[in-house]
Amino acid sequence: MNKILEINDLKKLAKKKLPKMFYDYIDTGSYSGITYERNEEDFKKIKLKQRVGVNIKNRDLSTYILGKKYNFPLGLAPVGMGGMMYPNGEILAARAANNMNIPYILSTMSICSIEQVAEYSKNTFWFQLYVMKDKEFVENVINRAKKAKCGALVVTMDLPLLAQRHNDIRNGLSAPPKLGINQIFQLISRPEWCLKMMFSKNKTFGNILGHAKGVKDITSIVSWSNEQFDQELTWDYVKWIKKLWGGPIILKGILDVDDAVKAAEIGAEAIIVSNHGGRQLDGTISSILALNKIAKKVGTKLEVFVDGGFRNGADIIKAKALGARAVFVGRPYLYGLSAKGFDGVKAMIEIFKKEADVALALCGETNINKLSMKNVLQ
Ligand SMILES: Cc1cc2nc3c(=O)[nH]c(=O)nc-3n(C[C@H](O)[C@H](O)[C@H](O)COP(=O)(O)O)c2cc1C
Repeated sequence: MNKILEINDLKKLAKKKLPKMFYDYIDTGSYSGITYERNEEDFKKIKLKQRVGVNIKNRDLSTYILGKKYNFPLGLAPVGMGGMMYPNGEILAARAANNMNIPYILSTMSICSIEQVAEYSKNTFWFQLYVMKDKEFVENVINRAKKAKCGALVVTMDLPLLAQRHNDIRNGLSAPPKLGINQIFQLISRPEWCLKMMFSKNKTFGNILGHAKGVKDITSIVSWSNEQFDQELTWDYVKWIKKLWGGPIILKGILDVDDAVKAAEIGAEAIIVSNHGGRQLDGTISSILALNKIAKKVGTKLEVFVDGGFRNGADIIKAKALGARAVFVGRPYLYGLSAKGFDGVKAMIEIFKKEADVALALCGETNINKLSMKNVLQ
């Protein structure tokens, strides 16, 4: 097998290992996919400034995020169905993040439950909330995250309704997979995955089954989730969530300066500049292009994180220069997880870290937190 040198190597391996419906679920955007493409493409427009003649021997990549010191300003973004990419996927990803001392955000739509992940990950584990119409479910899941000692609550703001991803419908995506001819064909072409999943006890949405009214089996989960995203998710609702949670709150899916100002006004501790990895508003701008204006406006009032399209360590250096406190990735770690479980996620983090370290040095800098607009050509 070829050596794993870059994120693309993990991506290729993930494609070989996963049934088509799960690979497509990761590697797709909504509708035409234009924003998904922009997220990656727009990094090419940002040019780092090369500097020489500086002693760069002792370098520091560690960063304070919400008052806690992490080894590197990178975290794992919340993703649905991680546990379908590899048995106990969320537990393995959380463990890898913990091992590398970076934050991990568990999704509402995970396969392993909050309680299961909490058993394996302490200190670096946050919870992401999809705001549902069922207030009792919302209240209950927030209390479960509190009990599990999650360090922050990440409220996803850019999914008050679900944008369509064509391939998921064509593939009949579900967890566990429905067994029509198309799906059976996809599964038997990946026997290693089938064998591994057969022995995994977690095969459906662990935070929902048994915790939401009217959800007793797998079929009812799918219809429940599709109907439940709350189109009345307003700033007032966020204030209610903030009060109930009582800890640090991060608003995810902010792409507009005015929304960032609003987030600061209601007292959010942080925001994630994000367009959901190009999976929601197709046609909107890339997160990296939105970042600098937002960071300039609210960067002194709250912590500004960003996600979307990061595929190598130099991209992290660019985001730090443009004002991000930390960067999150979704697909890169799902590629690692699908390819090699725990080791794949760890490899992905190590690759990003090494690449960022070299880029930092060649910019003539030694401290990742001292990067600024002076490090990019304008
Ligand atoms: C397969 C997949 C599932 C996702 N599920 C969620 C989710 O459950 N909750 C959420 O807030 N964002 C979700 N996202 C968005 C990610 O948190 C993140 O914003 C995005 O992946 C960043 O872009 P990147 O994949 O290019 O790194 C998902 C993204 C992907 C690719």
